[in-house]
Amino acid sequence: MLKMTVAASTPYDILIDRDILGQCCDFIKPLTKAKKILVISDSNVAPLYAKKIVFALEKENFNASLFTFPAGEENKTLQTVYSMLDAMCRFGLTREDLVIAVGGGVTGDMVGFAASIYLRGIDFIQIPTSLLSQVDSSVGGKTGCDLPFGKNLVGAFHNPRLVLIDTATLDTLPSEFFCDGMGEVIKTGAIKDEKLFNCLSAEGSDLSLEKIIYSCVNIKRQVVENDFKESGERRLLNFGHTLGHAIELYYDFKGITHGEAVGVGMLMITKAAEQNGLTKAGTAEKIQCLLKEFNLKTQVDAPLTELLTLCRRDKKSTAEFINLVLLNEIGNAYVHKIPLEELESFFGV
Ligand SMILES: NC(=O)c1ccc[n+]([C@@H]2O[C@H](COP(=O)([O-])OP(=O)(O)OC[C@H]3O[C@@H](n4cnc5c(N)ncnc54)[C@H](O)[C@@H]3O)[C@@H](O)[C@H]2O)c1
Repeated sequence: MLKMTVAASTPYDILIDRDILGQCCDFIKPLTKAKKILVISDSNVAPLYAKKIVFALEKENFNASLFTFPAGEENKTLQTVYSMLDAMCRFGLTREDLVIAVGGGVTGDMVGFAASIYLRGIDFIQIPTSLLSQVDSSVGGKTGCDLPFGKNLVGAFHNPRLVLIDTATLDTLPSEFFCDGMGEVIKTGAIKDEKLFNCLSAEGSDLSLEKIIYSCVNIKRQVVENDFKESGERRLLNFGHTLGHAIELYYDFKGITHGEAVGVGMLMITKAAEQNGLTKAGTAEKIQCLLKEFNLKTQVDAPLTELLTLCRRDKKSTAEFINLVLLNEIGNAYVHKIPLEELESFFGV
C-alpha cells in the first residue's frame, strides 16, 4: 500500500492500493466517534461499490445508510446538494457523525460541499472511483457544485479526513472517463514532473497505475500544502484550464469532455507560448503525441476569437489582467500575467 499524509489544519492520509475497499473499516474506525455514517454515491457507482461499503460498516456496528443521486455533471447542482442535506437531516446525523463520498469528482465535490455546510461542517471521507477523482479532485479540499451561470461557482474549502484510493475500481470505469482522467495525469506531468510525463508514453518506463496515481497525488499534495486557497502555486494546476473552460462553454459541455477540453487548452497555449518565445521549442509536439496516445482531442473547430472572448469571463481573470499558466519546458510551469488587451496578440490573432 502506498501512503502519504497531507499537512492540512487537520492532517489526513491518502491510501492507495488495489483491492483496499474490503478493509475500509480498518482505516475508518480509528478516525471517528461516529455512530451514524451516511454513504453517498451516484446511480452508477452505488450498486458497484457503495452498497458493499454500507454492508461492511454495518458489520462493524455502525448505523450506516446509503443515499444515491442520479449520475452526471448535469446533476452537479444546488438541488442535488439540497437532496443530500435533506438525507443527512432525515438520517439524523449529528456533528460527531460522518459522511462518505463514493464516486467520481462530481460525487466528491458535492458531498464535500454538503458536509462543509451541514451543521456548519461535519467530517467526510473521500473514496474516489474515477481516475480523475483519484489523481486530482479528491485531494485538496475544493468542494462545490455548478450554477446555471457556470461550473463550480458555489463551494467551500473543506478537507476530507481520509482519502481511500482503490485502483481496482478503475476496472469498471468506462474507457472514455479513463482517458479523460489521463488528461489530468498528462497535465500533472507537464507542470511538475518530467519523469512522470515521459513514462506515460508507449516508449516510457513501466510505472504501475498505483505509482502513477501516487506521483500525481503527491504533486497535488505539495501544491495544496503550499497554497491551500489558490493565491499562488495552486494556480499552476490550472494549466490548460483557461482555454479548456472556454472550449467547454463554447460547446455547452456537450460532445467534449473536461479532460479533452483541458488537453486542447494545454496544446493551444503551449503552441502560442512557443511562438512568443516563452516555452522551449518542441514542447507542444510532446504534449500532442501524448494526447493522441490516450485518444484525447488535439484540436477543436471553435473559432479562436470566440474562445478568447469566453476566456475573458474566466473567474480566474481580474478586470485588467489574465494569469496564463505556461511551461518553460515539460515539468516546469510558471504563471505569466498579461493585460487582457494583449490576449489576442499572444495567440497571434
Ligand atoms: N475539487 C477539485 O479539486 C476538482 C478538480 C478537478 C475536477 N473536479 C470536478 O470533478 C468532476 C469530474 O469528475 P469525474 O470525471 O470523476 O466525473 P463523474 O463523477 O461524473 O464520473 C464520471 C462518470 O464515471 C462514473 N464512474 C465513476 N467511477 C466509476 C467506476 N469505478 N465504475 C463505473 N463508473 C464510474 C460516474 O458515475 C460518471 O458517470 C467535475 O465536476 C470537476 O469540476 C474537481
